[in-house]
Amino acid sequence: MLNTLEELKLRATEELEAITDLKELEAWRLRYLGRKGSLTRILRGLGLLPLEERRVVGAQANKIKELLERSLVERERLLKEAELARHVEVAGIDVTLPGRPFPQGGLHPTTQMVREICHIFETMGFQVVEGTDVEWDYYNFEALNIPKDHPARDMWATLWIDYRTESGEMPMLLRTHTSPMQIRIMERMRPPLRVVVPGRVYRYEATDATHESIFYQIEGLAVDETITLADLKGTLFEFSRRLFGRERQVRFRCDYFPFVEPGVEVAIDCFVCGGKGCRLCNETGWIEIMGAGMVHPDVLKRVGYDPEIYTGFAFGLGVERIVMLRHGIEDIRLFYANDLRFLRQF
Ligand code: PHE
Repeated sequence: MLNTLEELKLRATEELEAITDLKELEAWRLRYLGRKGSLTRILRGLGLLPLEERRVVGAQANKIKELLERSLVERERLLKEAELARHVEVAGIDVTLPGRPFPQGGLHPTTQMVREICHIFETMGFQVVEGTDVEWDYYNFEALNIPKDHPARDMWATLWIDYRTESGEMPMLLRTHTSPMQIRIMERMRPPLRVVVPGRVYRYEATDATHESIFYQIEGLAVDETITLADLKGTLFEFSRRLFGRERQVRFRCDYFPFVEPGVEVAIDCFVCGGKGCRLCNETGWIEIMGAGMVHPDVLKRVGYDPEIYTGFAFGLGVERIVMLRHGIEDIRLFYANDLRFLRQF
């Protein structure tokens, strides 16, 4: 019996060495190690042998089985390698190589916030409109109740654009806020209207942790026959809670902007300390998020709306400021620094 085993081992090993493809290899496996393979048959028949012989032959048979199994795995590995090498030679491509990852861009955190905010207002029936960055003095100031020598011009340090026509003066600038779009929209449309305007604005100012010379605003405007301050409050209340959480409190206080009357400053209770006072809210418990008010009757008149019939509200918020609040970002200059370590976090 031991001789038979030895012969089987030699034959199997010899055959294995000669095998050159996987199909042959599988046939070989069935022949020796399969359910009806010759080694399997010997192992099965062990029970018929006398005890002493069974022990010796059994041990030897198991050893050979292990050897054959190990050789099989090794042979399979070699054959697959050879096959791949052949394939690469012929096709010139190794399909088993992992793909090369290629860098994928993402949306800037400001863009993400613009979209999120516009979406909230869209679900409330506002439409999104865009304007241009270059604007006439008329729309940025004059039509908004800010004539040439009005001291309120100091609220917006302006970048002027050198532009002369033959007919004379027509001052041009980079818009300092998105409010000029209030005028352009009202000139083009008749009430009822509800719009939000996201856009880049420019200020001629030294930058620091909370001031940039370029940033984004979102303007809101609603005009209809029965709009009151309560509508403004309700709208901004709902907006604040959608963006900052259902439990938010909203505070309206008087503020001054020449193109609204009354004007308000909108604040939410601090979502970090819940109003107790912390670093984020400057120990006040409140965080200002935007300016707003009822559209000034003179502004309505200027675009040909009868202020006896129509009223409206307007608001304007700084987008980066909201992103900073949301993510605890402490320096607004990061938004335009193009540092991938910053941008990749969003
Ligand atoms: N345009 C104002 C600013 O930039 C904000 C504002 C918009 C205030 C609309 C009231 C109404 O400061």
